Formats: sequence, C-alpha cells, structure tokens
Amino acid sequence: MKVRFELNEAPMEIDVAPDRRVVDLLREDLRLTGTKEGCGTGECGACTILVNGQTRLSCLMVAAQLDGARVTTVEGLAATTAGATIQRAFVEEGAVQCGFCIPGMEMAALALLRQGDAPGRECIREGLSGNLCRCTGYTKIVDAVERAGRDLHAGREEQ
Ligand code: FES
Ligand code: FES
Repeated sequence: MKVRFELNEAPMEIDVAPDRRVVDLLREDLRLTGTKEGCGTGECGACTILVNGQTRLSCLMVAAQLDGARVTTVEGLAATTAGATIQRAFVEEGAVQCGFCIPGMEMAALALLRQGDAPGRECIREGLSGNLCRCTGYTKIVDAVERAGRDLHAGREEQ
C-alpha cells in the first residue's frame, strides 16, 4: 500500500507492506538509523519516536498506522530548538555512555518538555520510565533533562 505521512516536517510517500514494522521502515527502507531497536517487544524504549506529538514505540507499530500522521524521529529532533537544547544538555551533563538508549531517551524528553513548564525530577523520572538504560544509572540523564527544561524555560535558546 501507499503510505503518506509527514516525516520530520517533510512530506513522505512510500510503497510498503501495511504490516511492515515502523522501526524497519525507518531504519532499513528510509535509512534513518538514529532510531534503535533493542528488545523489539515494547519493553526498552530504544525505538521511541513521536507520532502526532506523542511517544510511540516503533517496534510495535506497523506502516499502515502512519498514514496521515506527523512523525518525528531523532533525526528530526536535532533540527528543533528544543531538540538541540536536549542534545547539548545530554552531552554537557555527561549523560551519554554507550549511547544506545539515548535517541529514545531524547524523544521521550522532547515529548515531556513540550508539555509546558520545566519539569521537576520526579516528573522527569516518570516521563522517561518507559526507557531503559543499562549504563548510566539514570541520574545524569535526569540531570540532562532537568537542565534542558531549565534552559528552554529561561529562553536561553531564543537569544
Ligand atoms: S525496541 Fe521497541 S521497545 Fe525495545
Ligand atoms: S547509555 Fe548505554 S544504554 Fe544508556
């Protein structure tokens, strides 16, 4: 079937089997390899993307579900002010070790920070609770998202 959707703010039309997993569509068909596959069963969050602004696990979605949707991957995140702020905060707070979980973490952070005021640590932990990291112990990741929230709220990126 032909699937038409918006991908990172550009129109996309692709001929694909309706039951093709979205993580495979992104990584293999469209070569957007920033989205990672960890468990493949909806438990790790490595494959997180945004669909119509909401976090979704691309390993549990099929291509037909994207028809007419607005999709953001980590490649698109970097092009946004909030995304660039998040990525810089992750680097500056030392929140990246092996890096495998980071695209999914950043997508979850983007969805969280778009909700409004700079979130507190409990809210951040809850917002990232579907994303697993085997390296960092999470503290630096929470630090990074807290810092990104502060920076965005203070309008640092508008200067
Ligand atoms: S790869 Fe999708 S949740 Fe783990
Ligand atoms: S930095 Fe290695 S899994 Fe999170």
